[in-house]
Amino acid sequence: MSYARIRGTGSYLPERVVTNTELEGRIDTSDEWIVSRTGIEARHVAADDELTSDLALHAARAALEAAGREAGEVDLIIVATTTPDMVFPSTACIVQHKLGAGEAAAFDVQAVCTGFIYALSVAERMVATGAHRCALVVGAEVFSRLLDWNDRRTCVLFGDGAGAVVISRDDEPGLLASHLGADGSQGHILRVTGGIAEGVVRGNPFIEMDGQAVFRLAVRALGESAERVLTEAGLAADAIDWFIPHQANLRIIRALADRIGLPFERVVTTVAHHGNTSAASVPLALDTAVRDGRVRTGQTLLLQGVGGGMTWGSLLLRY
Ligand code: UT7
Repeated sequence: MSYARIRGTGSYLPERVVTNTELEGRIDTSDEWIVSRTGIEARHVAADDELTSDLALHAARAALEAAGREAGEVDLIIVATTTPDMVFPSTACIVQHKLGAGEAAAFDVQAVCTGFIYALSVAERMVATGAHRCALVVGAEVFSRLLDWNDRRTCVLFGDGAGAVVISRDDEPGLLASHLGADGSQGHILRVTGGIAEGVVRGNPFIEMDGQAVFRLAVRALGESAERVLTEAGLAADAIDWFIPHQANLRIIRALADRIGLPFERVVTTVAHHGNTSAASVPLALDTAVRDGRVRTGQTLLLQGVGGGMTWGSLLLRY
C-alpha cells in the first residue's frame, strides 16, 4: 500500500498592503467595524501586471525549495483558483510552463474558497495510487479583481495571495480522512454571475454575497464535516495538534473551534494580515505555521475550507 505525504510548503503575498485605515478614507467603514466583525486588519493587493500564475509561481518555488525538489521532478500540477489568468489555457498549464516543470499533467480546480481542499484531496489520491510521483498543489487568487471597491459589504473582506504544497509517495499515511461536500441550491448566497459571451461580460462581474447566510452555512457544514473526518479516522478532537481553517472571518473560526471542542491556542489564524484569499487561504496559513515552527513532522492537522458553490471540505492529515 502506498500513501502520499506533504514534503514542503510555500506561500506568497503581493507587496501592496491595503489597511483598514486606508479603506476608511475611501468608503463608509471603520477599522473598528472590520476588526470586530471579521478580525481582518489588512489585505494584500496584486500589482496591475501581476497575474494569478505569478503569485502561484512564487509560492510553488518556495514549496519546491522547502521540499528539496526540482521543478523537473514534478509530474502533476493542480492549481485551485477562481480567478484564472484567462478562460484557457488553465492557470496550472501556465504555471507548468513558467516553472519549467517538463510535461507534468496540469489542470485547475474550481471550488472557490474550498478549492485547495478539493485539489489536495484529488492530488493525494493520484499520488497514493502510484499514477504520479510528485505533485504540486497550489491555491492562488487575485480576488481583488472581483471586488466592487465601493461595496463596503464585500470589499473589506477579500485579498490576493498564493500558497502551495509539494506531496510525494510515502510508506506511511499522510491523509487520515477526508470529506468533501457541496450544495448547489445555495449558489446564490455567494457568487459572481458574470461570464463571457460573444466578446462581452454578461452578468455582474463583482462578488454578491448574503454574509449572514454564508456565516450560518459555514459553521453548520464545517462543524458536521469535522465530526465526519474525526469519526472516520477513529480520533477524538484532542488528537488534533493544529486546526488550520479557511481564513475568512475570525468569528466563524472561533465558532468552529468551540463546536469541534478545540482550545483556540491550537488554531492557526492569519486572516488579520491578509483577509480572505479564497483558495489561497488554507495553504497560506499552513505555510505560516510550518515556517514559524508550530507545525512539525508527525503532527495531526485538520484543514478546512468553505466557499461559493456552496462547497466545503475537511482533510485530516498526518504532517
Ligand atoms: O469564504 C466565505 C466568504 N464569506 C464569508 O466568510 C462571509 C461570512 N459572513 C460574515 O463574515 C459576516 O456576515 C459579515 C462580516 C460579512 C457581516 O457581518 P454581520 O455581523 O453579519 O453584519 P451585517 O451584514 O448584519 O451588517 C450589519 C451592519 C449593516 O448596517 P445596518 O443595516 O444594520 O444599518 C451593514 O450595512 O453593518 C453594515 N456594514 C458595514 N458597516 C461598516 C456592512 N459592511 C460594513 C462595513 N463597514 N464594511
